[in-house]
Amino acid sequence: MTSERRLPTDRFLFGGDYNPEQWPEEVWHEDVALMRRAGVNAVTVGVFSWSVLEPAEGRYEFGWLDRVMDLMHANGIGVLLATPTASPPPWFTRAYPDAMPVGPDGVRLSHGSRDTYAISSPDYRRASRRITAELARRYGAHPALLGWHLHNEYGSYDWGPHAAAAFRRWLRQRYGSLEALNRAWYTAFWSQNYSDWEDVLPPRRTQYLANPTQSVDYRRFMSDEMLAAMREQREEVLAAGSTVPVTTNFMLPTWNHLEQWSWSQSLDLVSMDHYLDTDGPDGETHAAYGSDLSRSWGHGAPWLLMEQSSISSTLPDRRVHKATHRVIRNSLSYVARGSQGALFFQWRAPAAGSEVWHGGIVPHVGAESASFEGFTTLGRTLEAIREVAQPPATGPVVEADVAIVWHAEGWWATEVEHLPSAALNYSETVRATHRALWHAGIPVDFVAPGAPLGRYRLVLVPSLYAVDDATVANFEAYVRGGGHLAVWPFTGYADENLHVAPGGYPGRLRDLLGLRVEELHPLDAADQVGLELADGRGTGGTWSERSTSTGAEVLGTYLDGDLAGNPARTRHAVGSGAAHYVSTFLDPDSLGRWLRDLAGQAQVTPPLGEAPPAGIEVVVRRGADHDYLFVLNHTAEPVTVTGPGHDLVSDRACADGRPVEGYGWAVVRLAGRDGWRWERGVVDRG
Ligand code: GAL
Repeated sequence: MTSERRLPTDRFLFGGDYNPEQWPEEVWHEDVALMRRAGVNAVTVGVFSWSVLEPAEGRYEFGWLDRVMDLMHANGIGVLLATPTASPPPWFTRAYPDAMPVGPDGVRLSHGSRDTYAISSPDYRRASRRITAELARRYGAHPALLGWHLHNEYGSYDWGPHAAAAFRRWLRQRYGSLEALNRAWYTAFWSQNYSDWEDVLPPRRTQYLANPTQSVDYRRFMSDEMLAAMREQREEVLAAGSTVPVTTNFMLPTWNHLEQWSWSQSLDLVSMDHYLDTDGPDGETHAAYGSDLSRSWGHGAPWLLMEQSSISSTLPDRRVHKATHRVIRNSLSYVARGSQGALFFQWRAPAAGSEVWHGGIVPHVGAESASFEGFTTLGRTLEAIREVAQPPATGPVVEADVAIVWHAEGWWATEVEHLPSAALNYSETVRATHRALWHAGIPVDFVAPGAPLGRYRLVLVPSLYAVDDATVANFEAYVRGGGHLAVWPFTGYADENLHVAPGGYPGRLRDLLGLRVEELHPLDAADQVGLELADGRGTGGTWSERSTSTGAEVLGTYLDGDLAGNPARTRHAVGSGAAHYVSTFLDPDSLGRWLRDLAGQAQVTPPLGEAPPAGIEVVVRRGADHDYLFVLNHTAEPVTVTGPGHDLVSDRACADGRPVEGYGWAVVRLAGRDGWRWERGVVDRG
């Protein structure tokens, strides 16, 4: 991350994707009037506009965009200008048919949707650079310009000939020689030994199980290849002299195509598109999950929520409806956890097209609607709390004493075929861990496996199957130095090439954990194991194992069955710290208890001492001169918040109690961290 290019810090950005090219110009004027009414101050323009910006190769039509940029500026609305490279126009397909992506089955895709390009095609890369350079030269110094939104949601794979050639180049760089590649890929197995680089292919569809190391290397390569494409666009923007921040929008929750730690180093700020994975209550934990990841990828710096859905979204795989108050609470949750704004997909619901039912700030029914009124409330709320947008001069925008180790490669490693259990699910395990901390009211960061860990009191390692030497050394040094490290099953079995360490699982972390696992006993989906834990009974699922302690204290055992009496939970004192382990996937209640116990041992508490009542989310965001307490009431019942501070939303002091209504919110400028309390119901001491 570079820090000198920043978004404005005197306000939160509020608005969303704006597609004026879909509408006649008279609608633009209505749009601007409505934007002002709602308090919109930022729009993302041009995301899929390539075919109208460059209708034929080398012929540009910027007049409409000139007028949009000027109109926005005249109305005090900033623009995040996208490069349109996620959707090349039809002429491009005709001119460069080989630049269309090929699936793993060898079928080349045709034009007709979006994201149809082969990322490694030299023609695609050249055309992308060119349109980026044109835009950067023309708008790089425009007064409406807030930042660059490069491409959209990088993540489209290709398995075609361009990708194959680029993969070989990447592999040569990584391994240096075919011998090294053969060793890493363990090609003696099934007669896969390579004698010529030209024989090396992407993991295309094959007869039976693919080579797992090849599969993971391909994902590493694809991430690096897309990063190279993004960096080319960044170079063009900088070469044109533009000084505003450059970002690209990561995508959660379903896409895991990028290694975000390396990507973030090439961005001025992290931005993310976040669509709730459920419209049930668990959606709140999901918003927090995406936010904490985004902030962490930027090492604690403010980030930007580039897209979320409005009150309704109809995605191919799910439909989510959000109550207006939820749109506001979610937006404040992202902001509490470091977002510099709340942007939506999209400003105006389209009249037709593939996403006609996706919804927008201005819905099909128009602005005379309760949902649009809700957006005006959000606009006013963000305005009322604008002082919070000024970040602290140093240190992270949210402080956490607990970190979860996160690595995209960890996810990829558990997506290879034929693991001991098909139910192993890295992202679900990480998510469950984060969710349990959310319920305990404990703030959390994510960290890369090799990142410095010293500032955390407790580090959690959910199912990191493959770990390199540096990670092992990092974990060991952390524990020796006094840290508490907690490890989940299926961690540390293999090195970065997915070679399993011999001598007993979890090979690479065996000594640190002080135990030796001899047999893996994955469980069927319907099966659970009973556990006798130091803090009471519990259950585990998906996984169990036969192990013996080689030094760890046993704090829980399996209750019955083959493994009765075997260690289920352990603690190994090492140096001045401890390495903790559970050998099954705990049910949510047992997991919550374990994490609270670990937090107790590591002396971690919620930010204001006590955890608030269930369903009340409390986050402290650091500002330039003050800290701010966000209170989000996700329940129907009011809660009264009492303590030294001033609520910016209601403009009321909290000393005598500030009732936060059911499904309501407060954002409090803290005058002190002591003496805060939460009571259900309306308690008026005034
Ligand atoms: C995002 C994408 C938007 C829109 C939205 C809703 O992932 O960036 O362009 O498609 O999803 O589906």
